[in-house]
Amino acid sequence: MVRIKSLWILLILSQMVFTQEVRELALAKGMQPLPDSFEELAKYFKDSATPLTREKVILGKKLFFDPNLSLSRQISCASCHQFDLGGADGLPTAIGHEGLANPSHLNSPTVFNTAFSKYLFWDGRSRSLEDQAK
Ligand code: HEC
Repeated sequence: MVRIKSLWILLILSQMVFTQEVRELALAKGMQPLPDSFEELAKYFKDSATPLTREKVILGKKLFFDPNLSLSRQISCASCHQFDLGGADGLPTAIGHEGLANPSHLNSPTVFNTAFSKYLFWDGRSRSLEDQAK
């Protein structure tokens, strides 16, 4: 019993060392941790054509969950990009209007942190959220 416990502790410790190594490697490559406050987040967009404001965040959240934006008034962004499923839907193919599957058999990618993405959509054809929303 003691041996099994020691093995678990060893496993957890080695995992922690590995995680720390990956973190240091990412930081050395110029990656940064995500901002943890509105003020820190807003700094990333201060020179943008669309600076971040608290009002926009509130409006965006409201629209994201509003099914009235869809033709059937039954689907919202959150139908396919569910926060409790990592910003996706866990389905092999997204299901949209009238319960139909995405014609290209694409599944819903996460929307988490996409404001920082350089390429959007599975084939990378879009370069910004503004362009992606067209
Ligand atoms: C029917 C399901 C569905 C709904 C509803 C939906 N999406 Fe998507 N979303 C997708 C799929 C599928 C893709 C990938 C499409 C592609 O690659 O061509 C996608 C891609 C995206 C992306 C790009 C993510 C990335 O990492 O490339 C963003 C951002 C996004 N959607 C936001 C939204 C917003 C905002 C709404 C509401 C206005 C919305 N989506 C509604 C299924 C959906």
